[in-house]
Order: sequence, then C-alpha cells, then structure tokens
Amino acid sequence: MGIDHEELRTTARAIVADGRGILAADESSGTIKKRFDSIGVESTEENRRAYRDLLFTTGGVEEFVSGVILYDETIRQRSADGTPFPELLESKGVIPGIKVDLGAKPLALAPGETITEGLDGLRERLAEYRGLGARFAKWRATYSIGPATPSDYCIWTNAHALARYAALCQESGIVPIVEPEVLMDGDHTIEQSRRVTGRVLQAVYTELHDQRVDFAGSLLKPNMVLSGYDASSRAGIDEVARETVEVLLSHVPAAVPGIVFLSGGQSDEDATVHLDAMNKLGPHPWQLSFSYGRALQAPALKAWGGKPDNVAAAQRAYYHRAAMNAAASTGTYSPERERELSTA
Ligand code: 13P
Repeated sequence: MGIDHEELRTTARAIVADGRGILAADESSGTIKKRFDSIGVESTEENRRAYRDLLFTTGGVEEFVSGVILYDETIRQRSADGTPFPELLESKGVIPGIKVDLGAKPLALAPGETITEGLDGLRERLAEYRGLGARFAKWRATYSIGPATPSDYCIWTNAHALARYAALCQESGIVPIVEPEVLMDGDHTIEQSRRVTGRVLQAVYTELHDQRVDFAGSLLKPNMVLSGYDASSRAGIDEVARETVEVLLSHVPAAVPGIVFLSGGQSDEDATVHLDAMNKLGPHPWQLSFSYGRALQAPALKAWGGKPDNVAAAQRAYYHRAAMNAAASTGTYSPERERELSTA
C-alpha cells in the first residue's frame, strides 16, 4: 500500500505552524461527566453537544487553534445549524482529530500500572474516522511514579502499543499524536519526573523507529517535567522549563515537527507560563506548542455552567485562554497580556 508521506508531513507541520496549537475536546463519556459534575450539569448527549458546539463556534479562535481532538460521539455530532462538527471545523481552517485509544486499563501482573487498549480493529476504525473527516489521531499511555514504578515492563509494553497505533495511523493517512503521559500524582521530585520521562521517551522512540514510523509525519504529546502534586517543595517556572527542554533534547528526534504538551492537571495559567518559558529558551529543533484539555477549557466550563445565557461569556473565556497559549507557543506571553481583556 502506498503511504502518502508528503500529506502526513504537511498535516503534521500545519498543526504546529503559526504559533497555533490544539484544543483537546476528546473527553470520554466518563471524563466529561466528571467535568460536568464539577459545575452541576447533567451529562446528557445534548448537553455534551451544546458544550462542544459553544467551543467550536467561538468566533476568531481559529487564529490560535489549528486542530481539535474529538471523541467518537463528538465526531458524529452536529452544530445547532445542522453542520457536522468536522465540517464546521474545516470550514474555519481547523483540522479535525480523533481520540482512538479505548482507555488505560490495569496491566496484568503489574499492580498499579496501566496498559492502553484499542489495537484490535483499529485499522477499520481509522478508515471510518478518516471518512468522517479526521486527519490526525491521539493515543494516550499513562505512567505513575512510585517507589517501584513505572516498571520496564509497563514502559515497553506501552511503547510497543503506541508504535503499533502510530504505524496503523500512517498507513491510513492519519497523523499520529503519540501521547506518553507521566502523571503528576504523587510526591515525587522534579528529578524523578525527569528520569522517568526520559526512560519513557527513549522506549517510545525506539519502538516508533523499529516499527518504521515516519517521525516527520507524527507529533509528540508529552507531560512537562514537574514536581508531583504532593511534593513537599515544588520546582519553579525556570526549572520546569529547563528540565523539560533538556529531557526532550536528549530523547526526541529533531525530525519530529512538533511537541504539543498536555496540561495534566496544572492550573490554566501555570500551563501557559511553563510553555512560554520553554519557548523563551528557544529556538528548538521542533515547534513547542499546546494540546490542552483542562487548561484551555476550565474557565469556559465554569463561565458556561450549563446555561444558554452564558454562552457568550464562556466563549470569551475560551478565546482568551487560546490567545494566551498561542502567545506562549511563540514565547511572547506576558502577565500584562494575561490581564488584557480579550473580546471574541
Ligand atoms: P489535559 O490538558 O487536561 O491533560 O488533557 C489533554 C489530554 O488530551 C489528555 O489526554
């Protein structure tokens, strides 16, 4: 089968061009229910549709957002005027993407560790998603830092699965976003986070190489190197930026066009400030941008509260965070800009 490497590379580069980044709006039904619970909104299919509609129809946000990751339910839903979401996004110059993993499940014989499932039938699902308009995909593996974790077993089985997913994506003409997430949970130090992140990335790029994945037609979505949530002392902005960039320089090939961070439970402003600090250390071999879920949506979700009357306020909140993160992705963010009132 002929693979169109040029198309894959063009799409991958387009996602990280012009200081733009990705909105991760691919929360599974369980995760979006948790987000809605936090604002007292029932997680019905219509509420989920209305909330995603609000995000996708925010005027002008395409200046800052190049792609949106959708969930299986969302890629099949429509905007209020009947336009399918993927078509709506494309009409604004935003590339539709799709989460294709089926979640992190307990890894057999490895208490506390997970393996991400979803490879069976993936080739057929990718063909369907491409038909629905998806041009890139996402697969997330998770790793917890503990006294004996992550094990080499967990690191290598997840790396193998990530590479199998990525190869299938490229065969289907879909750019794979490879997402190995070292979780912030725990009281680990930033040095532990750096060591684990390095081991994980080394395994991922070994498997991607061995399974013939074209790095130039792929993107990486990693965690930043951070102290654990419960650490007794927390690393500051400059240390996070330096440690993260150093570990990426050691383990991510320069052929990868872009690295789009997850926010992973950081506050929305921390996620912006850290990305900005890394870009201020540049230039780097790859674009450094964002693929945030919580850090892009938290203020909008709160402003919305499930009420149609609040849609405009929620869109202003989303627009503002997207603008701030786009500035961070070129290293031009500042606290003054944070305080400027943006209007959608
Ligand atoms: P967060 O930015 O909320 O971590 O979500 C990004 C994501 O897609 C996690 O898989």
